[in-house]
Amino acid sequence: MRKLLIAGNWKMNMDRGSAVQLAQGIAARAAEFPGIDLLVCPPSIYIAPVADAVAGSAVAVGGQNMYHQTNGAYTGEISGAMLQDVGATYVILGHSERRTLMGETDEDVNAKLLAALNAGLTPIVCVGEILDQREAGQTPQVIRSQFTRSLAGLTAEQMTQTVLAYEPVWAIGTGKVATPDQAEEVHADLRKLLAEYYNNAIAQQVRILYGGSMKASNAAQLIAQPNVDGGLIGGASLKVEEFLGIARAGM
Ligand code: 13P
Repeated sequence: MRKLLIAGNWKMNMDRGSAVQLAQGIAARAAEFPGIDLLVCPPSIYIAPVADAVAGSAVAVGGQNMYHQTNGAYTGEISGAMLQDVGATYVILGHSERRTLMGETDEDVNAKLLAALNAGLTPIVCVGEILDQREAGQTPQVIRSQFTRSLAGLTAEQMTQTVLAYEPVWAIGTGKVATPDQAEEVHADLRKLLAEYYNNAIAQQVRILYGGSMKASNAAQLIAQPNVDGGLIGGASLKVEEFLGIARAGM
């Protein structure tokens, strides 16, 4: 069925040496996790050396963001083709830190998503509510709105090439992980949305990751939920043991 994906979002951490070391440490043990897809997403400037470090292993490399244009006068931006060119096969899009700190809208995410697919990358599209929205009982509406706007215009085939990530904003970097029930509820809602906007076969195919204070000690219960297909991990992805401990929880 759906293969688990354990993805590390390194955010703006590490230097070149420690990034390569972490990548080598993960790659050296990747063969212990057959049946699980492993992905690391370093800062874009370290993608090339990290891709070299994991070459020959089953570990994939991804970007944390990209621009929707293919080339041109867009100072400071990076295209999907450029990510590909230096060894990335995935790209994270619409992370809450980009939505809140950099003002990315669902429409921006949508443009990037279509561009990423055109570039042949596997996008990981993040959605998630803030604490006020959860406490006001608005989580289902927030998720529906982000889903429909961020994924607008995607064909069925493109949908199957896309990964979703539920990252409750209140759980990111806070140590306050969603309970397995809280995560499963939203993941099941996302799968229902996939069935509603596409069809049941596609809904069953798309991987939905959980992200937000996931670590080796809480991963097993989350991954055991029927609609949780892996993790998008921040802090705990920066140490080989902790990251692979999460992968082990999925075995
Ligand atoms: P933490 O695992 O540090 O909470 O971050 C989650 C995240 O934002 C992954 O994209």
